[in-house]
This record gives sequence, C-alpha cells and structure tokens, in this order.
Amino acid sequence: MPQTSSWRRSGRWRNDTRLALLGETPWDKPRPTSFTLDTGVSRVKYDQARWTDDSDDLYEPLLSEKTSKTVDIEDSPLPDDLTRDSLSLPDPAEPELARHYTRLSQMNYGVESGPFPLGSCTMKYNPSFTEDVAARADAAIHPGRPDSTVQGTLALCHRLQDYLGRIGGMDAVTLQPPAGAAGEFTGIQIAKAYHEHNDGERSEVVIPDSAHGTNFATAAMAGYEVVELPSGDDGRVDIEALEAAVGDDTAALMLTNPNTLGLFERDIEHVADIVHDAGGLLYYDGANLNALLGRARPGDMGFDVMHYNVHKTFATPHGGGGPGAGPVGVREELAQFLPNPHVRERGGNYEHYEPANSIGKVHGFYGNWPVLLKTFAYIARLGDEGLRDASAKAVLNANYLAEQIEYEVPFGPFHHEFVASAGEQDAADAAKRMLDYGVHPPTTKWPEIVDEALMTEPTEGETRRSLDQLAAAFNAVAGDSDAELADAPSRPAAKRIDQVTAARNPQLSWQALDDT
Ligand SMILES: Cc1ncc(COP(=O)(O)O)c(C=O)c1O
Repeated sequence: MPQTSSWRRSGRWRNDTRLALLGETPWDKPRPTSFTLDTGVSRVKYDQARWTDDSDDLYEPLLSEKTSKTVDIEDSPLPDDLTRDSLSLPDPAEPELARHYTRLSQMNYGVESGPFPLGSCTMKYNPSFTEDVAARADAAIHPGRPDSTVQGTLALCHRLQDYLGRIGGMDAVTLQPPAGAAGEFTGIQIAKAYHEHNDGERSEVVIPDSAHGTNFATAAMAGYEVVELPSGDDGRVDIEALEAAVGDDTAALMLTNPNTLGLFERDIEHVADIVHDAGGLLYYDGANLNALLGRARPGDMGFDVMHYNVHKTFATPHGGGGPGAGPVGVREELAQFLPNPHVRERGGNYEHYEPANSIGKVHGFYGNWPVLLKTFAYIARLGDEGLRDASAKAVLNANYLAEQIEYEVPFGPFHHEFVASAGEQDAADAAKRMLDYGVHPPTTKWPEIVDEALMTEPTEGETRRSLDQLAAAFNAVAGDSDAELADAPSRPAAKRIDQVTAARNPQLSWQALDDT
C-alpha cells in the first residue's frame, strides 16, 4: 500500500492538480508504481506514471522529460515583447506519445471505467456506434451550404424533431439549444414571448426547492422574480403551497418529474390545472426523462414547454461542461416563438425558416450537430421497445441498489434515482472515500431536503454484478471511521483539494504554478 509522502501533507496540492492535468511533476525524485488494490469490493489496478511512495519502483519518465527539440521561430509581425526566437518542444516517438496519453487517461475515471452513479446527471454508457455515425465523412457538411444541397441533413433534423416530439408528447421541437440549461433558458424565453404576445407581462416563475440550480438561474436571467416552493412532507409538490404561490403574476411553474428525489408527482394533472387556471405555463425540466421513456409523456401530463437533456437520456457524451444538446419541445400555440432557424418540410423538401414570432437566435446554424446526430442514432437503434426497456431497467437498477445499501433512503417509492442520507457522516467525505474503493461517488449534498444527501442514479446500463460492487463500496464507506473519511481519498492520482481556495482563488493558467 502506498504511503502518503510529505509533499502531500505539506499541502502542495497544486502540484497534484498539475500532475493530473499536464502529466508534469516539478518535484524531485518521483517514483511510479503499479499495484493492484483488492478492496474486497472490486479489484483496481493503479498504474500511474509516478507514485509518491517511498518504494524503489521503476521510473518511466513523463513526456515532458523525454527528448525535446528546439525550433527556430520565423520573423513575426507581432510586437517583440509578444514573440520569442526559439521554442523547445517535446519530440517523443509515437509509442511514447501513445503511452503518455494512455497513462493520463488511466488516471481519470469515466463511464468506461466503472459505474458512475452521479444522481440527476444520468451518466449512462455511450455506445460507441454513435461515434462512428457522427464521424462519417458525409456528416461533416459546411453549415453555410444552401438548403437544397443538404436535404439529407435537414431530413435527419426533421426526423429527430419528430422523434423527440413523439417521445415528449410535444407538437414542435427545436434542436438549437446546446445544453439542458440553455434549453431551460430558451423555453422560458418562449414562455415570456407567449405572455407578452397574449396577456401582457407576468413577473414570477415558481420553482420547487428540490429543483436543479439551473432552473433558478434561468428564471432570474430571464428577468423573473423567483418564487421558491417548499416541498411537502412526502418530498413532492405541496398543493396548498402551490395554490398560495400561483396567481396573476405567474408566468410559469418549472417542474422536474420524477423530481430530483426520484419521486413521481402523482398530482401532476391537478398541478397543471392550478397553473393553467391562473394563466401560467407549465415547464418540464427533462433531465429525468430517462425514468419515463416510452411510458409517460410530459405533454400528456399537461406540460406546455420542455427541454430534453439528450446528453443524459439519449446516451451522448456528457461531462466537463459539454458537449451536449438541450432541444426544446412546445405545444402547438407556442411553436410560433421557437428560435430561428427551425427546420420544416414543404412540398417534399426540407428547409430552414424563421418562425412567425421567433425569440431569435440561441445558437449558430444547426445547434450542436454531432451530439444531435448521436441522439438520432441512439433513438433509431433502440426504437420504441428499446427505449421502454431502458426506462424499466433504469428504475429497476435504482430500486435494487437502494435495497442493497445500508444508508437510509428517506423518500420513496422512487424511480430511476434515489437520495440516501449519509446520516452522521459528511456526505462529501463519504463520496471522497468511495474513490478509495474504486468507484465513482454519487452526487452529494443536494437536494437539501435530505440531510447529507447521496443522490444516486445507477442508470440502466449497469449489470447486477456491478450494482453489487457499487453497493459493497457504499457499505464499506458506511462502516469507515471518521479518520478514514477525513483522509480520503488516499488512492487516486488526485487527492482532496482545498475547495475554498480553489473556488476563491482559481488558477486557470496552464503556466507553471509556483509553490508559494
Ligand atoms: C434536474 C436538472 N435540470 C437541469 C440540468 C441542466 O442540464 P445541463 O447540465 O445539460 O445544462 C441538470 C444537470 O445536471 C439537472 O440535473
């Protein structure tokens, strides 16, 4: 077992971050190691370029320390203080380069390394056939080409609009927004345009306290006052509180269903009546659509506008802030406000056009095209039955996992995700400790309705065996001491960072960081 060496204890975490990002280490005598960790839950092989224990393992130099060559720089028209005369560049052989990047990739963790139960994020496995589809040469069209020369591309956009509309029970869908949050903003702009067009301005958007932060941010950015709705004792919308909150000023209620506790809003039709009777619109945050695929449709529940997080529900890559796509679906009477351009079929041809009262541009050209292409490929490959099967397995897996873990799950029955409580433990510590057992932790400390929340979403892709491994990691952490939790993680390449300093004084440069 590796020892934590003194540089770590002395708080030089920035070097650690640098190691993870650049594969360079400025400290002296680094030594790598390769070892297999048998946690009793899973076997994890660590094979890092360097390890900071005190053993005398073989040392494989990192890319930056291999042969480099110096190149002369041609004269440049830029000012002298912005240029240099020569530049030293790494000059590795191809195998060295391949090994370098492979090694770096092994220091990271992704859905292809193991389960990734980050609640609300739906980190499902992305089947690689969708990458093949997006990589086809005929998918790489110039976005400025005239419509008549890209009829296949436009037909595909039109079919995807149609697929998503049918899945969500919506009459029209724009593919333009590049993320869930961007979809929310687009959807609320559409709601705003609708009110301005019909009954004048409304000033408030009502949002349950269990909602994702982007809902609150969206409403505020769109210029609305946010009315926060406290959840009822059962974790769902409190009807009395809703009736009190909704009125003539209500532009929309933004709701996630199942909500972020994984609970289905059983009174959704009643909720829709309350909002509609007050003249408001019902907005569906589609981040949890994975729970309902092929079984229930927001449009049938009374929702007027919704976004789809295609990078969650339809298995397109997700993370690191992108790439993603957040198409928005609307009812017929809202279609006139969709962003420009929209794709339609006319007389057997497909074309871009500007809807009559469009809110304008929210993205350039086709939206985030490769992500949309992968979405299309995923939906077409799974078909109706496959999508129904995905939601069934997502719900089954969440319920199976919750049964296996020792932490309490206060709210239920839940669908595709559940929120356990770490109880006396700090949820963030528990999450860091899970890294030591070789699995990715759940989302922590949110929603705040659950103390020390561990929001867990295994997704449909996990097998019973991997769910058992995940449960064993949860249970091992549940039995760990405070000291073990406070020290975690001790095994991954990157250790715990000083989050306060990282948030208040972020160092975003690639330049060498000094040790002060
Ligand atoms: C419930 C919920 N709504 C909205 C979003 C925002 O989606 P995106 O990350 O695509 O912007 C998320 C993201 O995790 C979410 O969990």
